[in-house]
Amino acid sequence: MSSQKLFSAFFLQVILATLVLGVANVQCLKLGFYKKTCPAAEDIVRKTTAQYISKAPTLAAPLLRMHFHDCFVRGCDGSVLLNSTKNNQAEKDAIPNLSLRGYHVIDAAKSAVEKKCPGVVSCADILALVARDAVSMINGPYWKVPTGRRDGKVSVALEALINLPPPFANITQLKSMFHSKGLSVKDLVVLSGGHTIGISHCSSFTNRLYNFTGKGDTDPSMDPNYVIQLKKKCRPGDVTTIVEMDPGSFKTFDGDYYTMVAKRRGLFQSDVALLDDVQTRKYVKLHSFSHGKSFGKDFAASMVKMGKVGVLTGKAGGIRKYCAFVNK
Ligand code: HEM
Ligand SMILES: *[C@@H]1O[C@H](CO)[C@@H](O)[C@H](O)[C@H]1NC(C)=O
Ligand SMILES: *[C@@H]1O[C@H](CO)[C@@H](O)[C@H](O)[C@H]1NC(C)=O
Ligand SMILES: *[C@@H]1O[C@H](CO)[C@@H](O)[C@H](O)[C@H]1NC(C)=O
Ligand SMILES: *[C@@H]1O[C@H](CO)[C@@H](O)[C@H](O)[C@H]1NC(C)=O
Repeated sequence: MSSQKLFSAFFLQVILATLVLGVANVQCLKLGFYKKTCPAAEDIVRKTTAQYISKAPTLAAPLLRMHFHDCFVRGCDGSVLLNSTKNNQAEKDAIPNLSLRGYHVIDAAKSAVEKKCPGVVSCADILALVARDAVSMINGPYWKVPTGRRDGKVSVALEALINLPPPFANITQLKSMFHSKGLSVKDLVVLSGGHTIGISHCSSFTNRLYNFTGKGDTDPSMDPNYVIQLKKKCRPGDVTTIVEMDPGSFKTFDGDYYTMVAKRRGLFQSDVALLDDVQTRKYVKLHSFSHGKSFGKDFAASMVKMGKVGVLTGKAGGIRKYCAFVNK
């Protein structure tokens, strides 16, 4: 090859690499994405969230869960916020939506932001910010939320069923469902720590109390004393009663979740399943002793990672005017 040809081949590669990197950059979220286009956005979201959380701290849990559900179905694109229409049953109306609450907080934050800078800030970003703010307001860790997500236009109930891990998932299923979202085994055990806050309906775990294998038996992997306690609260077939997931401190974000799981007092099979893998068990044991000392830092890092799952950026998707509807 002549030196000139070599040079142009090299040059071509540089151009190609720049193009590829350029595209990759477009795919990336970044800190302060709205710094120029809507500098007050994050402040407005935080103030709105504070107004609600200060009055009702228990809202932090469903808001955190909402962000998780958003990210696991079609990526963090705000699809969980879309309402069903005449012809479409949305994620919101799928079975795992049970107890998703707090849509009004997102709507309030969105409308406050829209007043200041109409059509600029996505619902997906607002949800990611609200989840972070809500958690940090109940003693949880704080993390910087990279922004620049765009809103999707599609929400399908069936996809929520397929993509969200059910409470009876075993460790193999959990690892593979997280893996399919680009999340590691560590992310799985760390993010499961979200169950240190919030509540559950009896119906999400009564199978473990009354008829585990169809022989009127209980789940042998649950602490028998805990089974007795829970049976007092949850009668067979009860679909309305709720129980605290981390009894006594369900309103504050601490590391108690791992102490509970280590004692086989997690509510779901997916919680106790974390004892069935070497790596997740090690994490649970470590943090059950330290009461989750460094858990906050891990949680923050995994939340940032989860917040990037399947995001729409650049020109993909759009910016919804109302989070519950695709723009007309
Ligand atoms: C690992 C797989 C997971 C499974 C199987 C699972 C399952 C569930 C179930 C069944 C409920 C109770 C719903 C009800 O009956 O009302 C629940 C609640 C909750 N989940 Fe998860 N979850 C998982 C992961 C996560 C993650 C990654 C987060 C967030 C980082 C999270 C945060 C929450 C919160 C905060 C609640 C309480 C909601 C409230 O108080 O209304 N979960 N989860
Ligand atoms: C959208 O759905 C939410 C929750 O399901 C409901 O509360 C709200 O009224 C709906 N909004 C409209 C305009 O239908
Ligand atoms: C959840 O979905 C059910 C249908 O599976 C629906 O009846 C209910 O209204 C939904 N809840 C919320 C809060 O959207
Ligand atoms: C986990 O569940 C799947 C699906 O039900 C099953 O095929 C598999 O054998 C289970 N794995 C373990 C380790 O229990
Ligand atoms: C337990 O499950 C079995 C098999 O699904 C069913 O035949 C039986 O009626 C159930 N028993 C109770 C008390 O629900």
